Amino acid sequence: MAPKVTVIGTGYLGATHAAAMADLGFEVLGLDVVQEKIDMLSQGRVPMFEPGLEEVLRRNVAGFEGSSGRLRFTTSYAEAAEFGDVHFLCVNTPQRHGEYACDMSYVDSAVESLAPHLTRPALVVGKSTVPVGSAARLAARIAELAPAGDEAQLAWNPEFLREGFAVQDTMHPDRIVVGVTSEWAEELLREVYATPVAEGTPFLVTDLPTAELVKTAANAFLSTKISFINAMAEVCEAADGDVVKLAEAIGHDDRIGKKFLRAGIGFGGGCLPKDIRAFMARAGELGAAEALSFLREIDSINMRRRVHMVELTREAVGGSFLGARVAVLGATFKPDSDDVRDSPALNIAGQIHLQGGQVTVYDPKGMENARALFPTLSYAPTAQEAVRGADVVLHLTEWREFGELDPAQLAETVTHRRILDGRNTLDPQLWRKAGWTYRALGRPNA
Ligand code: UDX
Repeated sequence: MAPKVTVIGTGYLGATHAAAMADLGFEVLGLDVVQEKIDMLSQGRVPMFEPGLEEVLRRNVAGFEGSSGRLRFTTSYAEAAEFGDVHFLCVNTPQRHGEYACDMSYVDSAVESLAPHLTRPALVVGKSTVPVGSAARLAARIAELAPAGDEAQLAWNPEFLREGFAVQDTMHPDRIVVGVTSEWAEELLREVYATPVAEGTPFLVTDLPTAELVKTAANAFLSTKISFINAMAEVCEAADGDVVKLAEAIGHDDRIGKKFLRAGIGFGGGCLPKDIRAFMARAGELGAAEALSFLREIDSINMRRRVHMVELTREAVGGSFLGARVAVLGATFKPDSDDVRDSPALNIAGQIHLQGGQVTVYDPKGMENARALFPTLSYAPTAQEAVRGADVVLHLTEWREFGELDPAQLAETVTHRRILDGRNTLDPQLWRKAGWTYRALGRPNA
């Protein structure tokens, strides 16, 4: 019989994983301690914007016409333990308040709540991003708490999904990494991932610490790539070079590659910034702080982009924000997401507002979350409305609809035709032809 699967924590990662596992043919029980989330998911609704996820959910959640009925939700750990052979831990690990280290309280409490109910062979599989060493600690805790003793084990299986591509990344991952301590655990996970492995996805088996490190190392590398190109943008600005051309040219080298070399206002979101900080904090605890001291520089290059964008905006409106009207296009940390966690766009909007600018924000999907975080900013229902009367327009999240805006049409509603492209994705020629002063980070002014 195919193993039965539970997914503990139904946020971004968990909701997607639960729906995908059900789609792959497993019986799945999703668990969350927040009743409202469970209610929404049980009704086939996704609590966040993620392309394609609602369809996969509805295809599988019990109660929908034509659904497989393989996916259900609960708030009960006893029920989850009774149901599952494989329990995926998908709770989040945010940055601790006032510290770099990550907050393990959700992971810890999931293990503390589940393990005492594990009375038969079960594999707990951590997916959350955690400081290296956590898996070994949690494995010991499970051994202590589970009535099944040795037959309740822990494995680590990091998740690499990107927001906006969560469904695709979960159904067709580019690699599957499992940290295990027994052949039984490896075999069970091979069974769970048989479909993607048959499609050719590489399946890598490691020990627990290596599996934990793969995730943090990958995110550290991606952050480094972005900050590298943003550092080049700083040099280009000083030397009158063009970072977009530069990125294209170095990207032709296979060893470098073109991806993740888009210069702009830098990285944000719920993962990269907090993961590199937690990684530094953990390395410090392990006595290897020096090995990751470069990440401090990666972080500060990244944060400098936001300040720089604010300065360019101030310059554009004549040296002071007082009385200046600033239109901000984009609030989410990247397009195709409604996530505004540590969003460079919203951070910049907030800084300008705090310095006296009159900021009006528009985002296709992130308005509600942005408003909750920054209720004092003004919000407009469309891009056209947001730019009305603006002294400067900032393009801060590269939503497709912003690339399709007609500069000539917008020109008629703004007070001054000035656009600052924080993502280097608009066509400078098009805007300049329509009479705009177009400026971007790391590119020549005219
Ligand atoms: C990231 C990792 O990609 C993913 O593998 C991991 O599981 C979680 O963290 P995500 O946070 O969804 O995923 O976003 P990602 O697409 O990586 O973008 C992160 C940030 O970097 C965004 O703010 C994006 O705008 C920025 N970015 C990305 C750049 O500024 N330049 C680039 O070239 C690429």
